[in-house]
Amino acid sequence: MKNVQQFEALFNHATIGIILCNKQAEIMDFNRQAEFQFGYTRDEIIGKKIEILIPQKYKHKHVGDRDRFYADPHPRTMGAGRDLHGLKKNGDEFPVEVSLSNYTLDGEVYAIAFVIDITIRKNNEKLVYQQKAELEHFTSQVRHLNMELEQKVENRTKMLRETLAELEKSKEEVSEALEKEKELGDLKSRFVTMASHEFRTPLSTILSSAFLLSKYNGVDDGPKREKHIERIKGAVSDMKSILEDFLSLGKLEEGSVKAKLELILFEDVVAVIKDTLNGLEQITRKGQKIYFTHRGDGEVLADNALIRNILLNLVSNAIKFSQENTGIHVELNKGESDLVLSVSDEGMGISKEDQEHLFERFFRAKNAANIQGTGLGLHIVAKYVELMNARIEMQSELDKGTSFYIHIPQTQQITEE
Ligand SMILES: Nc1ncnc2c1ncn2[C@@H]1O[C@H](COP(=O)(O)OP(=O)(O)OP(=O)(O)O)[C@@H](O)[C@H]1O
Ligand SMILES: [Mg+2]
Repeated sequence: MKNVQQFEALFNHATIGIILCNKQAEIMDFNRQAEFQFGYTRDEIIGKKIEILIPQKYKHKHVGDRDRFYADPHPRTMGAGRDLHGLKKNGDEFPVEVSLSNYTLDGEVYAIAFVIDITIRKNNEKLVYQQKAELEHFTSQVRHLNMELEQKVENRTKMLRETLAELEKSKEEVSEALEKEKELGDLKSRFVTMASHEFRTPLSTILSSAFLLSKYNGVDDGPKREKHIERIKGAVSDMKSILEDFLSLGKLEEGSVKAKLELILFEDVVAVIKDTLNGLEQITRKGQKIYFTHRGDGEVLADNALIRNILLNLVSNAIKFSQENTGIHVELNKGESDLVLSVSDEGMGISKEDQEHLFERFFRAKNAANIQGTGLGLHIVAKYVELMNARIEMQSELDKGTSFYIHIPQTQQITEE
């Protein structure tokens, strides 16, 4: 009797719902927790089919499940892998966890269902899912914001970099303009120095000859007058050539001089050189001799006017910076890829350190200080060479002589005007 009471106490005070069914699935017993869970009293549920506790949508499947259980009854949990639900008397559904057991009494099989209401756990799970989803949403928002921020930073950095580059550029432009301004200033002051120096000799020649001319007014003074007129002419022509140099430099610098490279006969270039050298013979020193040799034929790419100007400058230098009784050699050779014009002398030569500045405006070597000149000739030659896309080379040794070589490439495109 005490055992029965103990069993009843155990049955009724258990904290999980316990439902006992016979083979016909009729409820045979229903403990208090089950009453509490499903809202039925024990009395009203006894004898009802177990499906009364199962929501409509699962009922049909449950009938098959329970037949299979009775065919092979053994303890197990129900609904592996899916959510189970119970149906309350008031029609509410609630999530449950159910494990099944069985026993046989007097040859009759009985099933026991242990039911746990997992509403709270499910709610908690739902909450966790929600929080997780919110967190993910939040994280993705943060990620998005972060990306936007990175993009903004990148854009700003790019803008900054561009602004900096522009600043740098305008800075360069300003300093370039300043540099040009300075160069121009330099050029002007050098011109003033050079002009006042170089014009002084011819001007005083002119002055003294003019003075003497006014004195020689006798009948026999004809030859003397002639001499001084020649001196005045020479001085004026010296000044004229200085001014011409300066004018051609101005034209070159402003870009108005263009090379007119064209295919011309080799012999025509030879003729121009011979003609130019003939003119230069007039200014050679005593005993100086100009030799001209050439090798080539057919056509060449060249600009005769520029060749004449280059030759005038190089040969007049050779004459000026060599002693009497020396030879000057001019050569024109047509090579595989270029036409080479060279001028060599046996004169005073140029020191290694002066060679570096040779083509600069107004540059004059130390050993040329006492020889007349403005230091513009080679600068102008270098500009002409550049106009023909040519290249200039120089070799020189002090007191031995100097050679200049101009290489005019023959493979270049002729640009039509
Ligand atoms: N053949 C040469 N032999 C020695 N020195 C030379 C020779 N050619 C040029 N130089 C040196 O190079 C300097 C520059 O030559 P450049 O022709 O430019 O000037 P310049 O002859 O002195 O003056 P300009 O030609 O303007 O009348 C000369 O002053 C001279 O010192
Ligand atoms: Mg010169």
